[in-house]
Amino acid sequence: CGIMGYIGNREAQSILINGLKKLEYRGYDSAGIAVCDGENISICKAKGRIDVLEEQAGKSALQGAIGIGHTRWATHGRPSDENSHPHFDQSGKFAIVHNGIIENYLDLKQELEERGVVFTSQTDTEVIVHLLAEAYDGDIVSTVQKVAAKIRGAYALGVMTEYEPDKLIAVRLASPLIIGVGKGENFIGSDIPAVLEHTRDVYVLEDGDLAILTKDSVQVMSLDTKEWIERDLMRIEWDKEQAEKDGYEHYMLKEIHEQPRALRNTMTGRIDQGCQRILFPDLGLSTEGIKEIEKVYIVACGTAYHAGMIGKHVIESLAQIPVEVDVASEFRYRRPLFKGKSLTIVVSQSGETADTLAALREAKRHGSSILAITNVVGSSIAREADHLITTNAGPEIAVASTKAYTSQLIAFYLLGLYLAQEKETLPAQERQILISALQKLPDQVELVLANAEGIHSFAHSIKDEGHLFFIGRGLDYAVSLEGSLKLKEISYIHSEAYAAGELKHGTLALIQEGTRVIALSTQAELHEKMVSNITEVKARGANVLGIALEDNVELHRSVDDVCLIPSTESLLTPVLSVIPLQLISYYTSVALGNDVDRPRNLAKSVTVE
Ligand code: G6P
Repeated sequence: CGIMGYIGNREAQSILINGLKKLEYRGYDSAGIAVCDGENISICKAKGRIDVLEEQAGKSALQGAIGIGHTRWATHGRPSDENSHPHFDQSGKFAIVHNGIIENYLDLKQELEERGVVFTSQTDTEVIVHLLAEAYDGDIVSTVQKVAAKIRGAYALGVMTEYEPDKLIAVRLASPLIIGVGKGENFIGSDIPAVLEHTRDVYVLEDGDLAILTKDSVQVMSLDTKEWIERDLMRIEWDKEQAEKDGYEHYMLKEIHEQPRALRNTMTGRIDQGCQRILFPDLGLSTEGIKEIEKVYIVACGTAYHAGMIGKHVIESLAQIPVEVDVASEFRYRRPLFKGKSLTIVVSQSGETADTLAALREAKRHGSSILAITNVVGSSIAREADHLITTNAGPEIAVASTKAYTSQLIAFYLLGLYLAQEKETLPAQERQILISALQKLPDQVELVLANAEGIHSFAHSIKDEGHLFFIGRGLDYAVSLEGSLKLKEISYIHSEAYAAGELKHGTLALIQEGTRVIALSTQAELHEKMVSNITEVKARGANVLGIALEDNVELHRSVDDVCLIPSTESLLTPVLSVIPLQLISYYTSVALGNDVDRPRNLAKSVTVE
């Protein structure tokens, strides 16, 4: 979910709605705003996208220069007008917006109902606003503190009341929240893009912070101790265009094309002038510390997990450290055996994914040191980790991740090379070969993008398929998983990625006349095995698109169509081979008329478990 808040001298309605639009990637099944004109709070909310809210609010034109807004991704209670935020109490004097989950809401709801409170929604959030109204003691700050002591869970809150129309309250406990500081006006946002058109100065709230906003001041105190806290004011250097579409039809296409720049940014400052060594001055991992690492765990969700699978190959082959990769939600509950000195690498574009954050904390509890690879500086994961590699890919808006994934791959190459360099597990000459190949990747991605016309017609040819298969071995298998996920996410076509050698143990039964298969074969030492697997599916009637390096001429003979990518070192091919797969999913989704950037049922940042 996304939260926006405003207090100042301007009309709040359009500021709130525009802010919410910037947060739509956090959820978009319903939205709402509450505005106070100094005396009364008016509320407008609607199921559907922000556009629906905008139309509805346009009719009533809420007056007032203080307000809160919300864009929702349903957890408790289906998307509906009633379940949309802001929620209000029975007197209508309090309004709140909430992101997160209140774990003990059923007990609290029962107690409130026994005291005669009538609920108007099925949300967990509504208990909070009734508790506030009940507990109000003439001071909204102490009232919020009292209520916070009763509720359990993860939340970010925006609170306003008619009784104190000169204040907005923001609370953060395990769900992201920032405060934008303006002149004579201040803002609350779930994320920086929400406030960027108004200010570049922000406070990033920490867990347990309560912020009191007036139009001229922002004060932060601890929810528990009630002591005042000084947070550092951060200056955000992103330009506004970075967060907008840049003339592309969709954010996803823009972000696909931004990859060369994103990859260069991930490498910037991390390779020495002579391209001999990897530099990580701020990482905080000493050579001695690196030599002691006996085991690496990689945990992540979704696309970031697929990057982690590549990371395993990279670290094991370069730095000779055994690596386990897990989906964060599995890792947390499978009781991994932390023996000896371990490093847990958490990978997350947003840095806020609840499952990944929980896995981070679990690993920390077991004494593992934590290295985060994330795209969002100041995110929860970035702040809780001991060591941090930022991917510097710029904001990613499309739900389907593209540039964040390839930047995560670059981060893994840099890290693998760095660990190998410090441990001396890789001859310097081999390291230099890899570094110079790494530096060529952004230009090579540009080439793949420039020669992508064929992909358009391929996408058209698969748009009416019910099923599709991706096959590959080794690194190609990991990339196949990502290609298949991309296609499912935005085209809604069912697809499966299979380790090519495993096909014959079951899935081959699904291959029949005309079945579409995308076969990746970029690994020279596995090429012959892949040709056998391609022959197996072709013998059952499959129609195969091969993805291979440009110097692999033999593949042409075994497939129906081929997509060639520039040659590079075997370890680095994923950065290039994933590009056609991203484009296939993009053009298929466009051909089907789907909402590419905001696929059904998904959210960009999943801050609930
Ligand atoms: C959501 C998104 C995915 C993303 C995953 C992990 O499910 O829809 O695209 O890969 O979260 O997100 P993170 O921000 O942790 O990389």
